Amino acid sequence: MTIIVTGGAGFIGSNFVNGWVVASDEPVVNVDKLTYAGNLENLSETDSSKHIFVRGDINDIELIEKLFIQHKPRAIINFAAESHVDRSIKEPDAFINTNIVGTFRLLTASLKYFDGLKDHDKEQFRFLHVSTDEVYGSLLPEDPAFTEDNQYEPNSPYSASKASADHLVRAYCQTYGLPTLTTNCSNNYGPYQFPEKLIPLVVLNAISEKNLPIYGDGKQVRDWLFVADHCEAIKVVLEKGRLGETYNIGGESEMTNLDVVSKICEILDRARPRKNGLSYSDLITYVKDRPGHDRRYAIDIRKIKKELNWAPTRDFDSGLESTISWYLNNMGWVDRVRSGEYLQWIDKQYG
Ligand code: NAD
Ligand code: DAU
Repeated sequence: MTIIVTGGAGFIGSNFVNGWVVASDEPVVNVDKLTYAGNLENLSETDSSKHIFVRGDINDIELIEKLFIQHKPRAIINFAAESHVDRSIKEPDAFINTNIVGTFRLLTASLKYFDGLKDHDKEQFRFLHVSTDEVYGSLLPEDPAFTEDNQYEPNSPYSASKASADHLVRAYCQTYGLPTLTTNCSNNYGPYQFPEKLIPLVVLNAISEKNLPIYGDGKQVRDWLFVADHCEAIKVVLEKGRLGETYNIGGESEMTNLDVVSKICEILDRARPRKNGLSYSDLITYVKDRPGHDRRYAIDIRKIKKELNWAPTRDFDSGLESTISWYLNNMGWVDRVRSGEYLQWIDKQYG
């Protein structure tokens, strides 16, 4: 048995692959284009006898078909995506190409492979699509958390591209009988997250004595989940999820951005006090808001809890503490990631 993972050199994908290889004897074929967000260093400690890396684009249908024939996987898990909302606002094209067209191509290749399988192998096969809670849009403070039945109301080019992909996945199941599963998860944090995203950006800015940019009033709310918990949920959905279903995944940990940034400052004040004796919170700077900024996400995880017996294991405070210490102890990784393209992005976004 083998599984194929796409986007396995990115943040969540590499955490998934690293965890999979430790826990399972089943090899994983990892197809990743290695965009700015893909980093083979994230996989440097992966047991190479169980991990086959292929540099490639999910849009390359011939490559994907070849990998299906060569490895005869029992499942494919699609992590590959352009994932940063701010980039989608400035440069949406890549989001359309990868998140929509790429997912479509992957579905096409998967269906061709699936149709050629014997009945027993057909029963085993799964196409698991990793998606986001952002497809549901934005909540008011008093609204109940998103359930799987919420209407899709994406507000950014990123979330619209993910929503389109989710619809295609659904259509391939309904129309052609491809055995699909979709997961919609809230904000992840943990090791190997590219420092364009809030938590690593703030940690690394702080220790470099740079401003900590808060968009708008900082009262936007996100639900936070430690990445290892997300990876575990994906495994559970893969093994036990009902075909054609979608599962919301979240940390039951809603917080304003300002609270998240303040917690980071408190941890750093203890772990790495500033030379001038002041708190890192003095570096907090309010900047122009993100256009179309979703005000609140919250995720109702009763379905996955009840049906598949999954729940988050890591509380936010301990997860944040260990994430911060990971970044402080891996400054070599940080320095290599922050060179080149990353710096150009920071100039473009923050001036
Ligand atoms: P990431 O940006 O860190 O990694 C994306 C990976 O996909 C990179 O390795 C990149 O090289 C690869 N990739 C991009 N385009 C590709 C293409 N055309 N072909 C092959 N590989 C390609 O993203 P992430 O944060 O790890 O997110 C992974 C998935 O999880 C995405 O689908 C994202 O929408 C979803 N998701 C992310 C979060 C989060 O908080 N980060 C939450 C919920 C869902
Ligand atoms: O909800 C799941 C989504 O979470 C994933 O689908 C996305 O791939 C992932 O990037 C994340 O999206 P967000 O936009 O919520 O994450 P980001 O880290 O970019 O921002 C978190 C919040 O912090 C958001 O409200 C914007 C705000 N923010 C972000 C940055 C980078 C700031 O205030 N300042 C910043 O500099």
